[in-house]
Amino acid sequence: MDPVFEKVDAYLDELFAPPDEALQSALKAAAEAGLPRIQVSPVQGKLLYVLARLVSARRILEIGTLGGYSAIWLGRALDPDGRLVTLEVSEEHAAVARDNLSAAGLSDRVEVIVGPALASLPALEARGEDPFDMVFIDADKPGYSEYLRWAVRLTRSGGLIVADNVIRGGRILAPDPGDEAASGARDFNAALAAEPDLDSVVLQLVGRKGHDGIAIARVR
Ligand code: SAH
Ligand code: DHB
Ligand code: MG
Repeated sequence: MDPVFEKVDAYLDELFAPPDEALQSALKAAAEAGLPRIQVSPVQGKLLYVLARLVSARRILEIGTLGGYSAIWLGRALDPDGRLVTLEVSEEHAAVARDNLSAAGLSDRVEVIVGPALASLPALEARGEDPFDMVFIDADKPGYSEYLRWAVRLTRSGGLIVADNVIRGGRILAPDPGDEAASGARDFNAALAAEPDLDSVVLQLVGRKGHDGIAIARVR
């Protein structure tokens, strides 16, 4: 990876996503708890924030919480009476996220649900939730195509579906059968392109997280 990509990322972070106390301590707490450092970058967090504001999001669903870093960005985009529901399979990750969200002053707006997303999603639907304005998919990549189906089902017309990690260093072009993440992302991209209820695009990104990409789709 050309070092200029990381340098430009640092430059953009400083201009558009300067670290604050809550974001910094969230990263520190996650690192100290031994969580993998795979949260979105600061500028990607800012992108999530801007997208949420663009759809005037009052209800957001996140699939894949980790330590709550992206959830802080999304939670901050909500009005005080807005709601973020975030799904996480790991009890340990969820505990770190709850602490971080609480320290960020967002506990009143954010609900972390522990369990495999494919169990939590039907439970969410069964409890009669209003449709979401935005869904951010960022959990296990083999699950992405199923998460897309749920996202389409749970998002209002005009709402937004966003998914992280859909390029995987270009390995989506010819995924090694052993690379579940790249295969999952490739299947997801094909399903996204074929989904008639969505206007979709995928952008490749470079930066401190290497070469990857993000999907953005509007529900018709
Ligand atoms: N959105 C986070 C990063 C998420 S990393 C951020 O940017 O800050 C992916 C997370 O998905 C991990 O915490 C992992 O434990 C979780 N995950 C993996 N499989 C899952 C599943 N089946 N259901 C819910 N969460 C899952
Ligand atoms: C990786 C990065 C991510 O953003 C993610 O959600 C999962 C995995 C990675 O680089 O392995
Ligand atoms: Mg990700």
